[in-house]
Amino acid sequence: MKQLTIPDNSMMNDWQFIFGVATSAFQIEGQSSTRQSTIWDTFCHTSGAIVDGSNGDVACDHLTHWRDDVSLIDSLGVGAYRFSVSWGRVLNHDGSVNTKGMQFYLDLLTELEKRNIKAFVTLYHWDLPQALENNGGWLNRETAFAFEQYVDVVSKAFKGKVYSYATLNEPWCSAYLGYEIGIHAPGISGKQYGKKAAHHLLLAHGLAMQVLQKNSPESQNGIVLNFSPCFAASTNQADIDAAKLADQHFNHWYIKPLIEGKYPDIIDALSPDHQPDIKVGDMDIIAANLDFLGVNYYSRSVYRSCEQDEFKLVAPATFSVTQMGWEIYPQGLSKLLIDLNKHYTLPPVYITENGAAMNDEPIQGKIIDLDRVAYFNTHLAAVDTAMKQGVDVRGYFAWSLMDNFEWAEGYEKRFGIVYVDYQTQQRTLKESAKQYRNMLLNR
Ligand code: NOJ
Repeated sequence: MKQLTIPDNSMMNDWQFIFGVATSAFQIEGQSSTRQSTIWDTFCHTSGAIVDGSNGDVACDHLTHWRDDVSLIDSLGVGAYRFSVSWGRVLNHDGSVNTKGMQFYLDLLTELEKRNIKAFVTLYHWDLPQALENNGGWLNRETAFAFEQYVDVVSKAFKGKVYSYATLNEPWCSAYLGYEIGIHAPGISGKQYGKKAAHHLLLAHGLAMQVLQKNSPESQNGIVLNFSPCFAASTNQADIDAAKLADQHFNHWYIKPLIEGKYPDIIDALSPDHQPDIKVGDMDIIAANLDFLGVNYYSRSVYRSCEQDEFKLVAPATFSVTQMGWEIYPQGLSKLLIDLNKHYTLPPVYITENGAAMNDEPIQGKIIDLDRVAYFNTHLAAVDTAMKQGVDVRGYFAWSLMDNFEWAEGYEKRFGIVYVDYQTQQRTLKESAKQYRNMLLNR
């Protein structure tokens, strides 16, 4: 059996390189009645929105099992745990603190601290309180200021307990999937919405960075973006141009304003009603100094030119795909990191998510997910390649600690290195978890 290993002579062998596992609040917590309702609760109850008709009411019932889950994390020998705070669990509708909800996170942080596991806290992983959506959600500029206040409360309460804060997780998903094509909550679609929502999300990030700088200058404060390097479907110039354009819309649209304080030039070609509403001073706020950039990577994207639209996503000509239908393309991760490092003056980078959904079936109580082990092996090698070419990568987080609610895909897609039986809430280490643990032990 091929073992999961860190490549030879890799700087990942250095003890300072952080290995972790990641989750997010809505995907694992459950006990939805003890927090504000979120846009995902509403979306889940929209018929046809979630493949298996499920919701986040129970999920992994982490709120009940969190202590065991933390010992599980500890047993893996990781140095860090990335999780998100549910906005609507720490704050009530009227802005007052939900003391029980807040206490949950404080207890979690204390437990992690006791076990010497660094806390990587994401402040927004898609679960906007529905009350804010009722006032326009991310299409309303005021939501950015509401986020600023929420971050102020949380960062004061968590004082000294957090190693790293990420303001937002994958704002492209919130803006594009949620407000432009509507396949994620809140399910709004229209080209006039996506970039407006994206701008308010980035503004929220910038405002939150100012708060964190004040309340928590000792932590590593940054943002988590998802990237999918864009490839042309053929060597035709039209396809090459299509891929470049997609890259500007989906990747550079987020990183460029954060690092350089401006949107890509394609902004000038947007029709006026597709433009974001940028106010004087916004771009400076957005370009706040980052202590780190979180990179989530799963796959590449292939585009061809298209008459009706500027570009069209096509299926890559390969049979090597995960349960999500995403191509397994580790080379894309090295290329992405190396290209980003060439184009931008990057802060230190963390791979904040990487992993694969696979068809995991327990056989006599065992889940031998060798395809996932292979996925991790090739992607760790890809990170190593980029590091050897000068990219300053400081850590790697497997997505995910355990199977969980995979958004519009419901519970059918399993990303965990730990298997969750949703009937009994029993957790079982998959082969990939055991190998991740062995890899870290042998470091
Ligand atoms: C990125 C998201 O941050 C996470 O919530 C999701 O489960 C994974 N990708 C897999 O799709």
